[in-house]
Amino acid sequence: MMTRDPADAARCIAAGHLAVIPTETVYGLGALADDAHAVSRVFATKGRPIDHPLIAHILDAQAADGWAGAIPEYAQRLMDAFWPGPLTLVCARNNRAADFITGGQDSVAIRVPGSPITRDVLQELCSLRDDPFSAIAAPSANRFGGVSPTTAQHAIEEIGDRLTTDDVVLDAGPCAIGIESTIVDCTADQPRILRLGKVTAEEVEHATGMQLGRSSQVRAPGMLAAHYSPRTSVLLVEAAELPEQAVPSGAGLIAPNGVPTPPGLVRLSEPATTEEYAADLYRALREADSLQLSTVVVVPPSGAGLADAVRDRLTRAAHA
Ligand code: TXA
Ligand code: MG
Repeated sequence: MMTRDPADAARCIAAGHLAVIPTETVYGLGALADDAHAVSRVFATKGRPIDHPLIAHILDAQAADGWAGAIPEYAQRLMDAFWPGPLTLVCARNNRAADFITGGQDSVAIRVPGSPITRDVLQELCSLRDDPFSAIAAPSANRFGGVSPTTAQHAIEEIGDRLTTDDVVLDAGPCAIGIESTIVDCTADQPRILRLGKVTAEEVEHATGMQLGRSSQVRAPGMLAAHYSPRTSVLLVEAAELPEQAVPSGAGLIAPNGVPTPPGLVRLSEPATTEEYAADLYRALREADSLQLSTVVVVPPSGAGLADAVRDRLTRAAHA
């Protein structure tokens, strides 16, 4: 069922079904985080290996105590600075975080999402269950290895045929940020970034007053080189090289809006800012797929911060 009412998604999740839910980053495929059966359906629906852990989405930082055991002081500072928002923290797990969420690891990933509609779902879920620690386990709502959906329609294209009539798709329009949350490993003495996102490395250092650690013991499956891959092959090119590049005629082009479209290329996206670049990227890659283009030429955004995160996703998408 399609709905625009967050209460429908909350009821559906509370009853042990799956709900596609919007967040400020990407759409997730949500299940009640302590329901082994519902969570197993998330893995089956995505075709995801069961040792790839899921993020537990919670209503607020207080609820973190139910899921995370030892929360270092620097992690507390990150919660204060960026929650609700596009930041996921990996902490030592507490008793609520079962093996079927953590992929058998002794750490758990937690996030308080920033989108008001996602928070409405969590608020309603907590009140329906009379449990303020209620969590929604939700990976991105794409098939394993594919491009994360940034609209309800994209999520339906990915996994719609695997949902049942009891499951719900909550539509709140396009996601504001458009790429997945920043993930910080908080299991060691120093924070370490496992996945870049809207919250930048510099911001993590600033909020914690610490240097980022370089190596982590934590295994983050899903950080595979070839991930976020469309079927169309992705060719990364610097703007200056674009005119000389031998590209098949009819290829797609994603590039900042100052970059002109060479003759014969199909312009798929021309974002004016890095924020727009991130927000439109997955839609544009999906369009390349649906137009059945053999190649999409991509001129990455320049600069640091969010541009680093976008380039990270592009590098993975370009990895054959
Ligand atoms: O923005 C997001 O984070 C979206 C929205 C829906 O919240 N979710 C998302 O989930 O991107 P997913 O499952 O597609 O990516 C989460 C990543 C995976 O690569 C997983 O391996 C890693 O987080 N992860 C989860 N739990 C972990 C843990 N305990 N230790 C290390 N990595 C973990
Ligand atoms: Mg994902």
